[in-house]
Amino acid sequence: MTGPKALPIAARAAGQPYAPAAELYELQADDRLHRVKVPSPLLGEFDAVAVTRYEDAKSVLNDERLRMGFSLDPDAPRTMLNQPGNLLNYNGIEHSRLRRMLSGGFTVKRVRGLRPMIEEVVASRLAALEEAGPGADLVQVFSTPIPTMVICELLGVPYADRAGFQRRAQVGLDVNTTREEQIRNLAEMDAYMATLIASHRESPGDNLLGGVVRDFGHELTDDELIGIGNMLLIAGHETTASMLSAGAALLLQNPEQLAVVRDEPDAAAGAIEELLRYCAPATTMPRQAAETFHVRGQEIREGEKVVVSVLVANRDHALSDGDLDTLNVRREPVSHVTFGYGAHQCLGQQLARMELRVALPALFNRFPTLALAVPPEEVDYRTTALVFGVRRLPVTWTREEAS
Ligand code: HEM
Repeated sequence: MTGPKALPIAARAAGQPYAPAAELYELQADDRLHRVKVPSPLLGEFDAVAVTRYEDAKSVLNDERLRMGFSLDPDAPRTMLNQPGNLLNYNGIEHSRLRRMLSGGFTVKRVRGLRPMIEEVVASRLAALEEAGPGADLVQVFSTPIPTMVICELLGVPYADRAGFQRRAQVGLDVNTTREEQIRNLAEMDAYMATLIASHRESPGDNLLGGVVRDFGHELTDDELIGIGNMLLIAGHETTASMLSAGAALLLQNPEQLAVVRDEPDAAAGAIEELLRYCAPATTMPRQAAETFHVRGQEIREGEKVVVSVLVANRDHALSDGDLDTLNVRREPVSHVTFGYGAHQCLGQQLARMELRVALPALFNRFPTLALAVPPEEVDYRTTALVFGVRRLPVTWTREEAS
């Protein structure tokens, strides 16, 4: 294995926001494992072994010797990476105990039952878009509010509280805030979530969080329930919002593929899967070795950090004979690790798929003339953060056709 390279694990090719940097492909082609620099707003920059091949990604994410690197520390300040209830902070039996309590709310069947609510949320944002335009920022009016509103429904946040809830969510997801601001904001989120938990304890609502309180409330502390609420908000919000924005931006630049999503309901699920593979919003997954072990005969030492690059693993040519660097919404679905793999694989993936399958076709049907309002190279992508996304997506349309 070679020494650390000054290469962010989510690096993109110059001028190509969706494409991994050539250096990431070089790492993938090299049989030796390399160490790279990983930027993190909460942890600072750290060195880690880069995992860039699809099969290696599956193997390390499924290996119990690799743990979530951040354990709970009651003496350290409470942050998203240090709060009880957040599944991403647990390993082994403690993780499966907590995950079992939540998984019932995210099955394919349960998520199918959420479809009417998601359709209502999407319809309300399409109406808001129409009112705002012609001409609006899709991120602000459409992509960001949809996942927040869906999570408000899952948690049972009353309408009157939603503005404050959304504001705190925005701060919580803003990578430009300081650690101190994050800690302060999380304290506010905790205080709000505590009132919500208290009301579910008194009378469990007919929603996901109410169900958890009803069925498992006696096994969970208030602190854990607060953490569960915050985790669902954070895990399900920015990733889904990013997919809505990045997916829309990509399709607006590929009108023939956009037409498939708009006009062919039977092809929409496959198209969304290809967009998920191609955009890979959660670009990296960090772990830490609990003991020394080997990947393809190469040593990873106890205590070393390991990071999977979803971005390039999803384009590993070992996955398909096709050209995985080109978006092709009609391709036979190709496996990907956009939702991770193994014990921590995304709990909300069926919900995310449902939100995307409802929202993107509805958007292009309601606004058939939708177009980027700026040249594609001026779209403001967020390529350096751990969650890839779009900061602003100015779009326009012809009013007569929006009906
Ligand atoms: C396109 C949207 C989404 C993407 C790309 C995504 C991606 C991921 C990934 C990669 C992980 C694994 C992280 C790791 O192993 O280090 C994860 C975990 C998780 N996701 Fe998602 N996610 C999305 C949407 C959602 C939604 C909508 C929810 C719920 C409201 C959600 C809830 C969770 C939870 C609770 C975990 C932690 C699971 C565990 O540790 O056992 N996600 N997600």
